Amino acid sequence: MKSFGVGIIGCGARTRWIAKLLMEADKRIRVAAVCDPSAKSVELARETFGRDLTVCGSCRELLNSPGMDWVMIGSWNCCHREHAVAALRAGKHVFCEKPLATTWRDCLAIRKAWQASGRSFYIGFTLRSAPHYTTIKRLIDAGTIGKIVSMEFNETLDFNHGGFIVSDWRRLTKNAGTHLLEKCCHDIDLANWLVGSRASRVASFGGLNFFTPENAAHVRRLGRDGKGRTAYSAFDGGQEVSRRNPFTCDKDIIDNQVAILEYANGVRATFHTNLNAGIPERRMYLCGSEGAIRADCRAGRIEIRRIGFAERVRAVRVVAEGAHAGGDNALARDLAASITRGKPATADMNDALTSAATCFGIDRAMTTGSVVEMSPYWRDLALETPAEAR
Ligand SMILES: NC(=O)c1ccc[n+]([C@@H]2O[C@H](COP(=O)([O-])OP(=O)(O)OC[C@H]3O[C@@H](n4cnc5c(N)ncnc54)[C@H](O)[C@@H]3O)[C@@H](O)[C@H]2O)c1
Repeated sequence: MKSFGVGIIGCGARTRWIAKLLMEADKRIRVAAVCDPSAKSVELARETFGRDLTVCGSCRELLNSPGMDWVMIGSWNCCHREHAVAALRAGKHVFCEKPLATTWRDCLAIRKAWQASGRSFYIGFTLRSAPHYTTIKRLIDAGTIGKIVSMEFNETLDFNHGGFIVSDWRRLTKNAGTHLLEKCCHDIDLANWLVGSRASRVASFGGLNFFTPENAAHVRRLGRDGKGRTAYSAFDGGQEVSRRNPFTCDKDIIDNQVAILEYANGVRATFHTNLNAGIPERRMYLCGSEGAIRADCRAGRIEIRRIGFAERVRAVRVVAEGAHAGGDNALARDLAASITRGKPATADMNDALTSAATCFGIDRAMTTGSVVEMSPYWRDLALETPAEAR
């Protein structure tokens, strides 16, 4: 039986999890080698992938190891350029975790290396594969709500998740890029995909208003969870329970932000994120010429109402299992198909670039207090905004 070797650069929580699902999705796939400066990540990788796993001392050594056509990149976002470019130049197909990179220059460098390589590039926008969102996309494409006119979408996070983000490596933009880029590039990608266009101009406001020293008393007010963990430090998904105090540690990301986007095809959208939400949501409300879709991926709910006197709100049932509303399992199956039979990526370089550029534009709008025209980004991609973007 032919086997398919995969190498992992940055074998942290995310790539270990996705690679495990990948091997379950297709037994012919195996993780052959990893490289990661963290002894803890390497040890956990050995536990997950077996004691015979090759552990490399550098990205270069991994890329020179035999028996792997695909490389998964799950290092800090600021390293994605170095790792993706090296992997593509070494002739590997690449699965890169989102976001593509932390600067536009780095994004374009990865794109250049990819174009020269002729290899596949898969970006880890797991929600693209989630049944919740593929259902919404199908409903839109079937004309269920007519032509989209405007939409709202959000990503508001549980307090412990927020506390994790502002205290691990993601708290610094030099490691991760902005919060919008690091976390919400998924949501921006979903909006781009569902609207079927690219933003032509954006505006935004945001700031750090909760995770500040004067709010540290909330930790005491909320007490501990059943496992004895203090409030704001009880996130389950992280590799390390940070010992930093989320309220007093150094950080330069925001904890709340709103944005407005106008797309080249005329659709207008608003986005909202908050890292200390009483009601965590990933919700969308799409208004079309013939109806509306209201959906929350966390609650697993999709509702539709066509416009009309006798129309009622109809719930659409979606079956999904596992993390990210079933997205992680579906992503693993899709990625396995790309690895074993060359299926095109569910989310590709173009999607990665479009989402990243939109995040860069929104954050520039926030920091400069201006409306940002997105056409320079699209010109860099040698695409005219509106014609080709429509
Ligand atoms: N698609 C998703 O839903 C999703 C979810 C979580 C994380 N992610 C992405 O996955 C990536 C990793 O996030 P995580 O949650 O696994 O973080 P993590 O901290 O668990 O893992 C990051 C790993 O990268 C390693 N690393 C840092 N510098 C490196 C270098 N120079 N070379 C090799 N390895 C290096 C760290 O030692 C660590 O083991 C990030 O890009 C993040 O945005 C995506």
